[in-house]
Amino acid sequence: MNKGTFYVVGVGPGDPELMTLKATKILDKCPAWLAPAARKNGDSTALTIVNGAMQSEGKDILIHHFPMKKVLSGTEQDSELQDAWEAAALWVNEKLENGQDVALPTLGDPAIYCTGFYVCETLLARHPDVNVEIIPGISAIGATAAAAKTPLCLGDDKLVVIPAVFENGDLRETLETFDSMVFMKVYKSMDRLVPLLKELNLLDKAVLVERTSMGAEQVHHDLESLIGRELHYFSTLIVRKRK
Ligand SMILES: C[S@@+](CC[C@H](N)C(=O)[O-])C[C@H]1O[C@@H](n2cnc3c(N)ncnc32)[C@H](O)[C@@H]1O
Repeated sequence: MNKGTFYVVGVGPGDPELMTLKATKILDKCPAWLAPAARKNGDSTALTIVNGAMQSEGKDILIHHFPMKKVLSGTEQDSELQDAWEAAALWVNEKLENGQDVALPTLGDPAIYCTGFYVCETLLARHPDVNVEIIPGISAIGATAAAAKTPLCLGDDKLVVIPAVFENGDLRETLETFDSMVFMKVYKSMDRLVPLLKELNLLDKAVLVERTSMGAEQVHHDLESLIGRELHYFSTLIVRKRK
């Protein structure tokens, strides 16, 4: 029996209409879906997006919890995270061995801060012969720029994408160095970023979008008003100096 294929499928930033035709086609043909959930016994955002675009009846769906922990490149990872990747890879491999294709729907695009790649790495480390396909999706990066009606980079602009979890010194250096910046995972860092933006005269060059394309989308230009406010995890900040 031929082994199945493991697909990591980008399902876009929230609006099911922003899923690609290819994503729906691949999900349709895969009998098994591994849907990532950020909370134990919580919903899977990716699955909610998929359910808005297509039927999931008859699918063998595992909603699998991946703890929200920092993953630092080149270091030993947290054991809870490692266990979650291993358990996911085990489930996927069992299906593949039975000849079934498996899809892992993931928010946005798989190439950007995506659990699906850790599952792939874990799977390939144990079973190097496994066939893996990555299906790109619309990232929150592009969707946030669209909601804010701003380009990310034009002409010779240099663009950088960073998770806003660094120390203030690193954030300042980034703000001073690049023409255009996308800060992801920014929801807990605005109290530190806003004063820096103010000091560097960049407040009017910055826009934050909460829950882009998710129904309750909010575009914030007055960033000082966000100080002390609890922001949604799905928040992305764009700073473009040549605005
Ligand atoms: C783990 S990353 C996933 C990124 C995803 N793979 C992508 O391509 O958009 C999660 C971060 O993406 C951003 N994000 C994802 N969806 C978003 C949305 N609908 N609106 C705003 N930001 C979003 C936020 O910065 C969030 O903290």
